[in-house]
Amino acid sequence: DWNMPDYISEAVAAIRAQVGSDDVILGLSGGVDSSVAAALIHRAIGNQLTCVFVDHGLLRLDEGKMVMEMFAENLGVKVIRIDAAQQFMGHLAGVSDPEQKRKIIGREFVEVFQVESAKIKNAKWLAQGTIYPDVIESAGKGKKGHTIKSHHNVGGLPETLHLKLLEPLRELFKDEVRKLGVALGLPEAMVYRHPFPGPGLGVRILGEVKQDFADLLRRADAIFIEELRNTPVEGTDQNWYQATSQAFAVFLPVKSVGVMGDGRTYEYVVALRAVQTLDFMTAQWAHLPHELLGKVSNRIINEVRGINRVVYDISGKPPATIEWE
Ligand code: XMP
Repeated sequence: DWNMPDYISEAVAAIRAQVGSDDVILGLSGGVDSSVAAALIHRAIGNQLTCVFVDHGLLRLDEGKMVMEMFAENLGVKVIRIDAAQQFMGHLAGVSDPEQKRKIIGREFVEVFQVESAKIKNAKWLAQGTIYPDVIESAGKGKKGHTIKSHHNVGGLPETLHLKLLEPLRELFKDEVRKLGVALGLPEAMVYRHPFPGPGLGVRILGEVKQDFADLLRRADAIFIEELRNTPVEGTDQNWYQATSQAFAVFLPVKSVGVMGDGRTYEYVVALRAVQTLDFMTAQWAHLPHELLGKVSNRIINEVRGINRVVYDISGKPPATIEWE
């Protein structure tokens, strides 16, 4: 139960005391934690902070543009955007095993970040958006199969780059991080976004990741999210985006037959996933209204050429996981 303006001035003073006149590098992912960390550190030390935003080509529609607008244009934060989509696609070509894909994305991310960070000559600090639950989680065992946030907490980087770690959110819970973000001037829509996995669309394109699949998926996903945001939950003041914990589209590299006009189509399938959960360890599938699902399905099939069938995932966790890979 802390007072936000006081908290911000204390945190700012602590960051200034810690880094002095040194320069700081931060890996911006577009996620809530690294964004709030960037905004806070920028408030404290302004241009001594340089953010590196690695775009792996597996982000949501317009996400890269939004990150740049928010930080570089609106907040005046120094951000270097690295368009590494080709490099990531190249390394992912021919790979269909989910864990292998995660490893490659994590490894390439570290690689690109390392190369770019080394160019920022005077930096002495590496800032990360580590929050309290991450501290707890990495103290424990972690989850079988998934290395959660392997992508964000650029493991080993501080040592190879000879940097000291700056983690100003280490003591905060997620809801506190969000309130801090809003108080620092980040848009609510950004700060209250659903979680997005580090490997991004890489784990939502089943099997081999291909550029065209990513492009189709991005558009289908954006339609789903837009309709969730635009549909109120009856009897509440929330919309369906707010009433779900995580929602997204999944690309299935399976073709099925359809009809369009006089013609037969033979195209790909998109699955929609929406869950409600408190801790992401267990989750229920969201009982979205049929009208909403119907509208999303029609829009995806009409607007995204290459998709002729949409299905809804009604599996709980366990036994299914939230992501499909
Ligand atoms: P699952 O699919 O295991 O996901 O039910 C639980 C939560 O974790 C997220 N998730 C990840 N986040 N890197 C991340 O940063 C990953 O590799 C990863 N895998 C799953 C998932 O989106 C959900 O919120």
